[in-house]
Amino acid sequence: MEQSRRDFLKGTAWMGAAAIAAGCANGLKIGGAGGSMQGFAAAPLKKVRVGVVGIGSRGEGAVHRLAMIPGVEVRALCDIREPRVAIAAKWLQENGKPTPRLYSGSADAWRQMCEWDGIDCVYNVTPWSLHAPIGLYAMECGKHAFIEVPSAMTIDECWALVETAERTRRHCMQLENACYGEAEMLALNLCRQGVFGELVHSECAYIHDLRVGNYQDQGPDDGKGYWKYWRLRWNQQHKGNQYTTHGLGPISQCLNINRGDRFDYLVSLESRQANFTAYAKAAFPETWKARENVEMGDMNSTLIRTVNGCSILLQHDISTPRPYTRINLLTGTKGVIWGMPWRPSPIRIALEEKPGAGAHKFLDEDKTEEIRKAQRHPLWRTAGEVAKKVGGHGGMDFLMDLRWAYCLQNGLPLDMDVYDLASWCCISELTERSVRNRSATMDVPDFTKGGWRTAKPLGIVDIDLAKMDFDASRVKRDSAQINI
Ligand SMILES: NC(=O)c1ccc[n+]([C@@H]2O[C@H](COP(=O)([O-])OP(=O)(O)OC[C@H]3O[C@@H](n4cnc5c(N)ncnc54)[C@H](O)[C@@H]3O)[C@@H](O)[C@H]2O)c1
Repeated sequence: MEQSRRDFLKGTAWMGAAAIAAGCANGLKIGGAGGSMQGFAAAPLKKVRVGVVGIGSRGEGAVHRLAMIPGVEVRALCDIREPRVAIAAKWLQENGKPTPRLYSGSADAWRQMCEWDGIDCVYNVTPWSLHAPIGLYAMECGKHAFIEVPSAMTIDECWALVETAERTRRHCMQLENACYGEAEMLALNLCRQGVFGELVHSECAYIHDLRVGNYQDQGPDDGKGYWKYWRLRWNQQHKGNQYTTHGLGPISQCLNINRGDRFDYLVSLESRQANFTAYAKAAFPETWKARENVEMGDMNSTLIRTVNGCSILLQHDISTPRPYTRINLLTGTKGVIWGMPWRPSPIRIALEEKPGAGAHKFLDEDKTEEIRKAQRHPLWRTAGEVAKKVGGHGGMDFLMDLRWAYCLQNGLPLDMDVYDLASWCCISELTERSVRNRSATMDVPDFTKGGWRTAKPLGIVDIDLAKMDFDASRVKRDSAQINI
């Protein structure tokens, strides 16, 4: 089912009115008249001034990470809850950072932050329903938009972000930290060297037992409830894979999605839901939690086919009792890498020595470790140890922020562009439509409008810490970082 242009226009008409009503200089015009953003680089920004919106459990860590990067200043903070803004402001003050402007107290205080000319970027760490609206408004106000995952929940939102980035010539990057994971970057490095031959298939996932987090009380019940249970509420109303990108992002980079290949179509199938309700009944008997329905099935499995004939198995399961994994498996004509079995080794590799010999066993741990060390991605060599020290999902969060800051400071294209964001995020709505239609086939829109044929694959990138004036000896472990 192709996303029609009419659906897109219908879905975004409100944004133009909203932008004009709020006094943004350039009211939104539908249509990306500015040309492709593939390979786009903005003029170098020696000092990168950031406004962070959404200072919840993830946002607080983001403020700390950004403030640790030389040449990056957190100049504005916004959260609907004033105490959250105050906590982050206090930390900045105690750590000798410039005093930020504070925005709070209303559900749309973020608009004023986006309009302020004292920032260059808006770093958005809010609940999912605010990802695209804030990202769009930030670009309308001339700011680069950095948006936490997922970044867009519908195909309409994906198109709106693409066309607004094209017209405003602002970066719109999804903060997909898994693309900077050590195992994922090792896989990319090895794929680029052709170690697994011609890639034909990949398996990836977000399998993470989030039952406790979904049902957890988040602060006092003040009757307003605008942030409480937002994940649970979303999952209650939706089927399909609503969190696609931790798995899909890294393997898309290996498969050159939007840069030589693109997603063509998918089918999606879902199990029934049992675990959310079983948990709620056991943990919160006699409460509203035990009585409410959850639409989302426990396990969603999606098969995506690319135009060049690769297949991808993408899974989503946030409720069964099982260990965390993003799988990150890539296989080709010469072997396979499995990026996340965790035990006994952080990765597994099997290689065929000569055609037809087969690769029936994974390499032993010593050999795997030898490859892991010798082929470590250059970005991990440069800053991996520093990033691990800071913390944040084993270091990948800090590496991601270091890398985009370096790109902005030096006028380089970012590793992930708005087309990556749209292609990875549109899968959510398509899986839901497929699941609700007996696993019907869904076409994936080409957000690059043909640009995927000529765009260059993502290279093996790096940063220069000395050029950034980064003093690694001053880096401290940060307790606000999330590490699972
Ligand atoms: N990349 C990752 O590894 C990762 C990990 C965790 C969370 N996330 C993402 O980060 C985002 C936040 O997740 P979280 O767990 O921190 O949630 P959270 O509920 O702890 O934080 C959300 C914050 O947004 C604030 N907020 C809500 N409505 C607002 C509004 N109208 N204006 C301003 N602020 C508002 C809330 O008060 C809260 O402080 C989500 O999008 C989530 O998917 C990503």
